[in-house]
Amino acid sequence: MIRRATEARDRAYAPYSNFRVGACVRGESGRLYAGCNVENASYPEGQCAETSALGAMVLGGDTRLLEVVVVVAGPELCSPCGGCRQRLMEFAEVTTPVHLCNPSGERQTVRLGDLLPMAFDGHLLTRPG
Ligand code: THU
Repeated sequence: MIRRATEARDRAYAPYSNFRVGACVRGESGRLYAGCNVENASYPEGQCAETSALGAMVLGGDTRLLEVVVVVAGPELCSPCGGCRQRLMEFAEVTTPVHLCNPSGERQTVRLGDLLPMAFDGHLLTRPG
C-alpha cells in the first residue's frame, strides 16, 4: 500500500502548493486503490489524494475499505483534512486504521474514529420527519 501511495504521490498535480500527497485504500475485496492530490488554479476546486483514491475505489467496485495509507514527500507526517475524514468514514469504521507515512519509512497509525470523533452519521438521513 505504501508503494502504491508513493507512486500516486509522484504523479500528484500540485503546482500551487508544491505539496504532493499520495493515498491508497484497501477495499473489502482486497484490491488496492491509489490517488493523488489534483490542484486547480481556482484553489478551492482542488482535490485531496484521499478523495481521489476513494473515487478510484468506488469505480473499482468496492464500497467498504479496511485500511488507509497517506504518504507525503517531506519529513512531517500528513493527517487527512476534515473533509477527507468524513469522506473516508462514509466507507469505513471508527476502528479503521489510517497509516501516516513519510519517505524515510516513519509511520504513525491512528484510528479513523480518533481523527473524526462524533462523525456525522448518514443513518440520520433515513429517519422520517
Ligand atoms: N492534501 C491532500 O491531498 N491530502 C491531505 O490529507 C491534506 C492536504 C493536499 C491538498 C492540496 O493539494 C495540498 O495538499 C495542500 O493543501
